Amino acid sequence: MRLLSSFLCVAALPSLLFALNAPFHASSSWIIDSTGANFTYAGVNWPGAGEVMIPEGLQYQSIASIVSKIKSINMNVVRLTFAIEMIDDIKDNGGDVSIQKAFTKALGSTNGEKVFQQVIKNNPQFSTSTTRLQVFDAIAAELGKQGIYVHLDNHMSKGAWCCSTNDGNAWFGDTYFNVDKWKRGLQFMADHGKAWSNLVSIGLRNEFRKPDNTGSSLAYDWATWYAQVMPAAEIVNKANPNILIFLSGLDFDTKLTPIPTADDLGNGKKFRLTDYTYANKLVLELHNYQTSATNCGDIEGGLWNNGFRATGQTPVNKMPVVLTEFGFTQADNSYTKTYATCLKKLMPQWKTGWTVWVISGSYYIRSGTQDYEESWGLLNHQWSDWRNANAITALKGMVDATLAATAS
Ligand SMILES: *[C@@H]1O[C@H](CO)[C@@H](O)[C@H](O)[C@H]1NC(C)=O
Repeated sequence: MRLLSSFLCVAALPSLLFALNAPFHASSSWIIDSTGANFTYAGVNWPGAGEVMIPEGLQYQSIASIVSKIKSINMNVVRLTFAIEMIDDIKDNGGDVSIQKAFTKALGSTNGEKVFQQVIKNNPQFSTSTTRLQVFDAIAAELGKQGIYVHLDNHMSKGAWCCSTNDGNAWFGDTYFNVDKWKRGLQFMADHGKAWSNLVSIGLRNEFRKPDNTGSSLAYDWATWYAQVMPAAEIVNKANPNILIFLSGLDFDTKLTPIPTADDLGNGKKFRLTDYTYANKLVLELHNYQTSATNCGDIEGGLWNNGFRATGQTPVNKMPVVLTEFGFTQADNSYTKTYATCLKKLMPQWKTGWTVWVISGSYYIRSGTQDYEESWGLLNHQWSDWRNANAITALKGMVDATLAATAS
């Protein structure tokens, strides 16, 4: 009896320790959790939008061990990327694909079957009948169990490495960027994610960029951005009114310049928070990869002018801004250089959230190379340990400073 009750006590602990305080809302430039406290994103990107369309790393480790690593440096959110093609398969091609089929389709029958076998060896809860979406479900559940929130990100339409101007996914109407399917996919994931107690937000599209092939694309400008993005936001809000909606900008999401100031977007249209009944669900996201910068002031000035102004004293649209991508190689001492140290200082100073690129030490396949080595990965190739312990100590310092900056 004694043994049993102490076992029960231990088993009950995690849910007490890791309370999930969803949903979130935006208030001025803050993201507020369901208890009324500030919540500042401090997390990492976990890619799931490659050719296989299964979150990476599971041929090397269990989901629980990967999530435990993320937890061990106090991160509180994962930006989990997905491709619209996964939903197209569910809707148009007879339902979600089994992970076994997804691996053999993307990696060939020999390697695909081999990787599939490794995945189910490390993650024995999966089998031949497990589908890709069920892997997303399992990752969300494990993150929730460990008190970590999920931010979904639509990274691509067609599953592949992102992003270039010639990958057919750059802009509305580009080769693979079918607008109706994009909206349908967002709606589907927002709705599906209602079953995840820790889903708090979704990014509508990663890194808009000017396509090389402008043939079938809509005009690359702010007027088109506004005409396409805001109806998609509306659809997502209807599908799941609880989650925050992240709006990303032009030029690989480095520019949201006219949004904080409600400038004319080109056709007399202006973005005004007050136009939206769900204004308290709207958040801006920016990316920054000025990895060779030698002057922190340049990074700071650029980020501010390109969008962080929304968190300032007198923007027209006062909103939270989250730096959902930045990152650098873990293979050398880049973590000591201007770019890394500047953002490490700036994010807590601005009391701003962020998700670093990237957890993956390797990819199932990237740009045609299988078992691709990712030197930017926080984890090593086998996802078994950190790639660079000193860089991680510095990163954990950034997490802790970020969380301390907005603690009540
Ligand atoms: C959130 O943090 C900011 C900055 O420290 C502070 O001004 C604000 O009062 C905090 N909000 C809550 C609800 O604690």
